[in-house]
Amino acid sequence: MAKSTENRSLTFSSFVFHLHPPKVHAETLRFTLSFGLGGMAATLVVLLLVTGLLQLLSYSPQIDQAYLSIQQMYQPGGLGGFIRNCHYWAGNLLVVITFFHFLRVFLTTAFTGPRRYNWIVGLALFLLVVFANFTGYLMPWDQLAYWAVTIFTSMLSYIPVIGSELMTLLRGGQEVGSETLATFYAIHTGIIPVLMVVLLLYHFWMVRKAGGLIKQENTSGVAPARITTHPHLVAREVAVVCLILSIILLFSAVIDAPLGAEANPGQSPNPAKAAWYFMGLQELLLHLYPSFAICVVPLLVLFFFIRLPFGVKETPAKGVWFGGRKGALNAAISGIAGTGLTFFTVLIDDTFLIRKGSSQLSWLWRGLVPTIGCCLILVLLYFILVRIRKCSAGEAQIGVVSCFLCGAASLTVIGIWLRGAEMALVW
Ligand code: HEM
Repeated sequence: MAKSTENRSLTFSSFVFHLHPPKVHAETLRFTLSFGLGGMAATLVVLLLVTGLLQLLSYSPQIDQAYLSIQQMYQPGGLGGFIRNCHYWAGNLLVVITFFHFLRVFLTTAFTGPRRYNWIVGLALFLLVVFANFTGYLMPWDQLAYWAVTIFTSMLSYIPVIGSELMTLLRGGQEVGSETLATFYAIHTGIIPVLMVVLLLYHFWMVRKAGGLIKQENTSGVAPARITTHPHLVAREVAVVCLILSIILLFSAVIDAPLGAEANPGQSPNPAKAAWYFMGLQELLLHLYPSFAICVVPLLVLFFFIRLPFGVKETPAKGVWFGGRKGALNAAISGIAGTGLTFFTVLIDDTFLIRKGSSQLSWLWRGLVPTIGCCLILVLLYFILVRIRKCSAGEAQIGVVSCFLCGAASLTVIGIWLRGAEMALVW
């Protein structure tokens, strides 16, 4: 009996030590350094894999059966509805948690040096998480799903040159229909989970290779304290897993995942909205020339974040949120400025310019000029922070990114909550 307990503990230890080194820096265990966000995201991915596999037992990916098979999951006495709720809430929460994890990595300057390639892997993971959610969105085949996917795939057609081909490829034809459901099902249940697991294992391995989480530079000359992984780190990880699981399980027991009326291609809801994480893009589409909103701006943003770790010469203090108090104040001021400017621009555009027919303007006036205008505002902010607030390049960069992210978040908020029938602004 004692021997089998000893064996089990050995197996557990060797599993843990494959993921972690035997000892870690004590400082990296501070909860407020990472808030356990990476661990929460990893837990949600595992929960999604398990609940996704269980749903395969009752879900039918045909347009005449998909909706019914989801409805049947909610039969009294069964666990199907609860499992679907867990899958739905975990998927949505994963988008939020992954975004916050991305923010924490950026704001503690954990994306430079040996971690820069892991930052790129992280960006790929973030895109995968969003795409996983989006492809899963269609599965219930209800009105919400049908129109959200119709809107997003038609947004893709604005991409120059390859847009319409990409739309047809994703839809499996010209319209959203049985081929689209089959394509999305294959991507959602086959391709994405495999890519996700491979990339995640690589992500974890790179965290370990970089020597664990980021920590502050040691200038005292005294070697930083190191403590054993088991039980110190493992106990904290178990706590984070239990916390996030209890939140999802409780939430799923109380609130059902939404299921609208069955998809009706002949009756579009008003307003017809994309999935919430694409609402920022849909909002941008109202204000910018389509190919700029859907292609040029997102590619510029992606390029900026991919280049970020390779362009910084001078970084703020590593392992310190915002690089310190001054950085935090800059980020707050820049964030407020980004939010205010976005709301103001949307209001002016909606109230005066769109009514005067500005949406009919050419790509030059409705696309290039406003895009360059926004870039100039961010460059101006950078120089104000460096010259007037005497910030370092790294601190100014935190300010600029905070301004941009708050602007993007404001667009999402406006799209989700402040757009009513005909996409008019409502308060
Ligand atoms: C499914 C999505 C993701 C999962 C499950 C995940 C998981 C993790 C975990 C468990 C850690 C170590 C603990 C922690 O930092 O909390 C970590 C660290 C890291 N992650 Fe992620 N991650 C994901 C997405 C991302 C994204 C979107 C980025 C950024 C673009 C990113 C970049 C990094 C970096 C650079 C580190 C090392 C941080 C440091 O050394 O302090 N990850 N990730």
